[in-house]
Amino acid sequence: MKIIEIDHEKCINCLECVAECPSHLFIDEKTDSEDTVAYVDPYSSCIQCGHCISICPTDAIIYQSVEKLIKIPKKSIDFNTLFPQLKLLLQTKRSTRRYLPEPVSESEIKEIFDVMKYAPSASNARAWKFLILTDPKKIKTLSQKVVNSISLTRKLVTNFLIKNFFIYGQLRKTINEPSFTVSLDRIIGDSLAGKDPIFFDAPCVIILYSPNYGNLAGCDSGIIMTYGMLAAESLGLGSCWIGFAQESLQRLRSLSKFIGIPRGHMVWGCFTLGKPIPIFHRIPPKPDLSVKRI
Ligand SMILES: Cc1cc2nc3c(=O)[nH]c(=O)nc-3n(C[C@H](O)[C@H](O)[C@H](O)COP(=O)(O)O)c2cc1C
Repeated sequence: MKIIEIDHEKCINCLECVAECPSHLFIDEKTDSEDTVAYVDPYSSCIQCGHCISICPTDAIIYQSVEKLIKIPKKSIDFNTLFPQLKLLLQTKRSTRRYLPEPVSESEIKEIFDVMKYAPSASNARAWKFLILTDPKKIKTLSQKVVNSISLTRKLVTNFLIKNFFIYGQLRKTINEPSFTVSLDRIIGDSLAGKDPIFFDAPCVIILYSPNYGNLAGCDSGIIMTYGMLAAESLGLGSCWIGFAQESLQRLRSLSKFIGIPRGHMVWGCFTLGKPIPIFHRIPPKPDLSVKRI
């Protein structure tokens, strides 16, 4: 998307674009004789967020885009029902670890990605790239490879010399917790028993990757992953963020290469998708957040 200029026939000089543009690229050029707004971007600072297009009441922003513009219908959001509904969705969304074997339809995948594209990102970077895995064989092979990497990690980090001389701080503390080896052993054991302890036999796995463009790449990823999982939930699909796969894909180039992640790219997230088996009857108790007023 590229902003070209303002259509002065349509512009009513309301100055909403001037007030809204985060890069301050609209200028009120008011003189005694004329009242016009100009779009000035000599350093290509436009982050293509589309706020000017969105805010202009008379559709006076001229831009280039292959994407369709969607007009927000008046009174389309009923705020009386929105919050209770959204709250319930957020409270009842559980991580799904049991799936029906039915595939996720192409139209459901499309709906989810159509919502995900509206996720915010730092400076509107939108560096995200996705892989969609729906081939059960490929999902199973990837799961097995992740389990193999977990097996190797278990051997390495519990080795006396490595644990005591090469691992420090919180990580060493975590490794020393009995639950650490127990959880890895459970994964390894489940895999040996023919189960899929990584993706839980989900019919669809979504993997997010991008170049590592700095500290905010992780935040951008967390947001779009959440958009995707909540969109899925509202379509009646279950999902679960799979940190085990994400970590293995981050660490092992052979693994990320196996699924076609280009060199120089980092895997930032992975979630499963499918029709959930569990029917939850209660919202589990969750402790209040640690909040301090200053
Ligand atoms: C970053 C991240 C990584 C996660 N990785 C895994 C995982 O590898 N396997 C798994 O079963 N659950 C994973 N989860 C799900 C959490 O265990 C789950 O969110 C948490 O236990 C709370 O349960 P709930 O989501 O059902 O409320 C992950 C969640 C997040 C946010």
